[in-house]
Amino acid sequence: MSDNAPEVLISEDRIQTRVAELAAQISSDYGDIAELVMIGVLKGAFIFLADLSRKLSIPRTIEFIAISSYGKKSAPSGAVRLVMDVRGNIEGKHVLIVEDIVDTGHTLKYLMGMLGSHRPASVKTAALVRKAESAEVDVTIDYLGFDIGDEWVVGYGLDYAEQYRTLPYIGVVKPANIQAR
Ligand code: IMP
Repeated sequence: MSDNAPEVLISEDRIQTRVAELAAQISSDYGDIAELVMIGVLKGAFIFLADLSRKLSIPRTIEFIAISSYGKKSAPSGAVRLVMDVRGNIEGKHVLIVEDIVDTGHTLKYLMGMLGSHRPASVKTAALVRKAESAEVDVTIDYLGFDIGDEWVVGYGLDYAEQYRTLPYIGVVKPANIQAR
């Protein structure tokens, strides 16, 4: 591993074990439903969605949605904007929103409201990581991988300035590498 590699916070093994546990829980909770529509939030959730969806033992289909946030901390909730909507019709279907990370919670809250207006049979949420101390709005995460502190993490889909998304683990970028960019 090079000196520039982010410091490991959650190892590849821990992620894979936890994703398998979440998949088992989801498969058991939804039981014999006809179809679960998994909606991945681009870009960060693409790897979590790929791994989670392949470990499920229930019928599932995949959709993607893209949003952009105009700000981070203490931004008004209206700061989240839809960039790409789901393609398929989700009315009457069971929907699972798959997010990479929940920080303030504004993004997930916005998505729940927005997708709820399509009148699905149910909407639940899965997130790999949550920054518990950073919550600004109350939003339920039905399937959560890990709680972490308030630090910027990368890897397993997550980026810093579009870098590090393909790391197999979740890590913290060293301050020297942030300043260097
Ligand atoms: P929220 O609306 O504040 O919950 O922010 C959620 C979005 O912010 C996530 O979907 C990520 O795109 C981004 N984000 C927040 N924290 C991090 C981080 O530590 N690393 C990478 N992306 C993050």
